[in-house]
Amino acid sequence: MNQVSRFYSGPGGLVAAIGSALEAAGLDRATLRPADLAPIDEFHIRGRAATLEIIEAVGLTADSRVLDLGSGLGGPARTLAELTGCTVTGVDLTAEFCEVATALSEWTGLSERTHFHVGDATATGLPDAAVDTALTVHVAMNISDKHALYAEAFRVLRPGGRFVVYDVLQGEGGDVRYPVPWANDSSTSFLATPAEMRELLPAAGFDVISEVDSSDESLAWFLQMRARIQRDGPPPVTFAAFLGEEFGQMAANQVTNLVERRIRTVMFVCSRPS
Ligand SMILES: C[S@@+](CC[C@H](N)C(=O)[O-])C[C@H]1O[C@@H](n2cnc3c(N)ncnc32)[C@H](O)[C@@H]1O
Repeated sequence: MNQVSRFYSGPGGLVAAIGSALEAAGLDRATLRPADLAPIDEFHIRGRAATLEIIEAVGLTADSRVLDLGSGLGGPARTLAELTGCTVTGVDLTAEFCEVATALSEWTGLSERTHFHVGDATATGLPDAAVDTALTVHVAMNISDKHALYAEAFRVLRPGGRFVVYDVLQGEGGDVRYPVPWANDSSTSFLATPAEMRELLPAAGFDVISEVDSSDESLAWFLQMRARIQRDGPPPVTFAAFLGEEFGQMAANQVTNLVERRIRTVMFVCSRPS
């Protein structure tokens, strides 16, 4: 296990912990929908809403083969598969997350259309031009060799296919305040600036179709989440299940990081030229 997957791996037993928490909250596994899991399995800023934007940006159909690079607990993959009928392969470095992702897909009846493998997003081992669409959501922050990541996405994508990157980028307001939900300190945190992204994506071969900065919405999302938790208490299961008690401090730091423009959230939609 390397330093990044050690950061994300909790004390173990995550599948059972999530199952018990859902049961205690009265959620019936037989009727569980991907949206019920969003507070834990859409592990990125703006959660399910951001995944819905990705769906809108790429126009998936039931025939689409999709690759999710750094698929985490599988929330984005399940949302895509449920709403469009597409088939999603997820690759993630953290073995425990792949185990959880596989279990949650079984619970939500999406095992046939979502598959998760332990692997490195910079070298997936998939054949060339194997997928119609690729995405990566809040993953590149942990990857120093970003060219390797985007070149791998380009290689596995068929000509004409779309690639979406939704990531946390370095803002102009100074160094990130740690801990954050992807790193305890700068040793596993490698944020590109928006200007660097505008060079990295074309350098890998992509045409950039659009770039949308959602940082204001991201700040609003954190503030709404905080207000909701103060009013109603936390949802049955949250990222604290694997990030531990530090999660409260991480979320507070994210508010500071956004207010002080130390981070930005940006979505790039790209295409591999035909
Ligand atoms: C913040 S989570 C995002 C998970 C998921 N994309 C989502 O939005 O719900 C970051 C994920 O990136 C994965 N990751 C980090 N570096 C990776 C790499 N080199 N290859 C594959 N996965 C990686 C971590 O294991 C973790 O699951």
